[in-house]
Amino acid sequence: MSQTTTWNSQSAPAHDQTPEAEWWRSSTIYQVYPRSWVDSNGDGVGDLPGITSKLPYLRDLGVDALWISPFYRSPMADAGYDVADYRDIDPLFGSLSDADDLIARAHELDLRVIVDLVPNHSSDEHEWFKAALAAGPGSPERERYMFRDGKGENGEEPPNDWKAIFGGNAWTRVTDADGNPEQWYLHLFDPKQPDFNWNNEAVREEFLSILRFWLDRGVDGFRVDVAHSLVKADGLPDHSAHAKMAGLSDANHDNGGPMWDQDGVHEIYRAWREVLDSYNPVDDERYDSAGDRAMCAEAWVNPPERLARYVRPDEFHQAFNFAFLETPWRASDLRESIASSYASNDAVGAPTTWVLSNHDVVRHATRLALPIGEPRPNGIRAEDPQPDAALGLCRAKAATALELALPGGAYLYQGEELGLPEHTTMADEARQDPTWERSEHTEAGRDGCRVPMPWAKDAPSFGFGSGDAPWLPQPDVYGDLAVDQQDGVPGSTLEFYRHMLRERRARRLGEGALTWVEGPADTVAFVNSRDGHEDLWCVTNFGGATTLPDDAVVVVRSDERDDLTVPTDVTVWFTRA
Ligand code: NOJ
Repeated sequence: MSQTTTWNSQSAPAHDQTPEAEWWRSSTIYQVYPRSWVDSNGDGVGDLPGITSKLPYLRDLGVDALWISPFYRSPMADAGYDVADYRDIDPLFGSLSDADDLIARAHELDLRVIVDLVPNHSSDEHEWFKAALAAGPGSPERERYMFRDGKGENGEEPPNDWKAIFGGNAWTRVTDADGNPEQWYLHLFDPKQPDFNWNNEAVREEFLSILRFWLDRGVDGFRVDVAHSLVKADGLPDHSAHAKMAGLSDANHDNGGPMWDQDGVHEIYRAWREVLDSYNPVDDERYDSAGDRAMCAEAWVNPPERLARYVRPDEFHQAFNFAFLETPWRASDLRESIASSYASNDAVGAPTTWVLSNHDVVRHATRLALPIGEPRPNGIRAEDPQPDAALGLCRAKAATALELALPGGAYLYQGEELGLPEHTTMADEARQDPTWERSEHTEAGRDGCRVPMPWAKDAPSFGFGSGDAPWLPQPDVYGDLAVDQQDGVPGSTLEFYRHMLRERRARRLGEGALTWVEGPADTVAFVNSRDGHEDLWCVTNFGGATTLPDDAVVVVRSDERDDLTVPTDVTVWFTRA
C-alpha cells in the first residue's frame, strides 16, 4: 500500500552549490585495476596497452577520469602496492612509452588520468632498501626506513607490539652478511613492504621529485595510498590493540593508534600541494585554469572532521569517503552519513567524494546483500553463507543511483557498471592476496573483488585476454554479465550506468546544492539544484513500496518499472512537471 507524503523540501540547503568550477570538485572517476582490466599480450595479466585500447569504452561510459592502481616496477607481493622503482613501469604492464601513449590517448578522448602513489612503504626490492640492508646499523641508508634494535637481552624481541595489517608482526628481523640476526624493520603491511622513515629529509625530497616526474609526463593527479600513515608517533609507543586499518582488516575502526593519522602528516601534503599548484596546465586548450592537477587521499580516518583536515585548502583536493561506503543500508544511517560528510567538508571548502567499491572491499553488488549493520568481511569464501545475488544487485543499483545524484565527486570501480558480484566461491589455492597466508587463512582477503573483467561471453577468459588462464579465475556468472551481453541492451546494468552518467553530466549534478526532502518514511530524499538547470529530485526507498508525487517525471530509475511506484530498494531521479 502506498504511503502519503508531503514531498516538501526543507528551506535551507544542507550543502550549497559548488562555487568554483575545478574539475575535481564534481568529476566521476573510474578506477582501473591494471592487472584485471584488459590483457593485450595473452600472459594472463592486464597491461597498459590493454587499458589504452579500451579508453573509448570509458569515454562512452561517460566518466571524466580514470585512476589507475600501481603499474610501477614491483615484485608484486601486494599486487603492485610494493614498488621497487617509482619511475618505471613493471614489464608485466608495459613500458614508460606505453604509459605516455595511454596518457596522450586519454587526453585526446577528454579523459583525465590519475596515477597511484605509494609513499608509506616501498618494496624490499627497492634499491634504497637493498642499500639499507647492505650498509648496516647506524648508516644513512638505514635512516630512510624504520630500522630499530630489538628488545630483550639479545634484541630477539620486536621493538614494539605493533601488528601488521595483513596479519602477523609488523616487524621483521634482518640478518647480517654472516647470517647473524641484527636489527628489525617496520612494515605496517607485508614484510616485503618496508615503511619509509618520513622524518628523513631524503625521503621527503625523493617523493617531491617523484611527483614532478609524473606531473612532467602529463598526469592529472595522484591517488595517495594510506595517506594517514606516513608519520608515526614519536618513540613508536606500544599499541595494545591490533594495528587495524579499517578498510583492510575489519570494520571495527581503530584509527587512533600511533601509526595512523598523526598530526605530522599534514606538513608533508602541504609541500606536495605546492608542487601540484606550481604546475601549469598541460598544453591543451581544455586546461584553462592554473592548478588543475589534483590529489586524493586514501585515508581511513574517523570521524569525518578528522578526515576533513586532509582536504584543507592547502592539502589534498579530495579524500575518499569510506564512511559512506561503510554506512549500513538504512535510511537513517545514510541520511546521517551524507549530512555529516557535507558538514565536515563544507567547513574546509572541500568537495565531498562518494565511493561504494574498490579493489580492497567486497564489491557492493554482493556486500549490500550481507546482513545489514554487521561488520564488513574481508572477502567471502565458498564455505561462507552465500549472499543473495539478486538482492545485492537491486540494492547496488539503488545505491549507485543515490551516489551519482549527490553533489560532489564520485568514484566507480571497474566492473561495477556490469553489476559484477564478488567472486565468493574462488578456490583457496587461487588466492594471491598476502592477507590469506599472513592471516593464517582466517581472512579470505581481497581477491574476490579483483577478478579480471569480462568483455565478451564466448571468448577465452571472457575477452579479458587471449590466454586461457587469467591471473585470478573468473566465476561462470561473469560470462552472462560480459560487456557484449549488456552493450545496447535496454535494462542492462551497463546501459543503466551509461544513462545515469549522461544525465549526471548534462545536468551538472556534481556541482549542485543539496536540500533534504521530507519524503515517505524509510526513504532518503533530496533535491539537487543548480543555477540554470531544473531541480533534480532523488528518492531511495528502504521501506515498503511508496509512490512519487503525481507531477513527477522520471529521469532515471534503478528498476525497470514505468509508473510512479517506488518499490523497496529502488532509487528514482525525477523532475516535477
Ligand atoms: C591500500 C591499498 O588500496 C591496498 O590495496 C594496499 O594493499 C595497501 N594500501 C598497502 O599499500
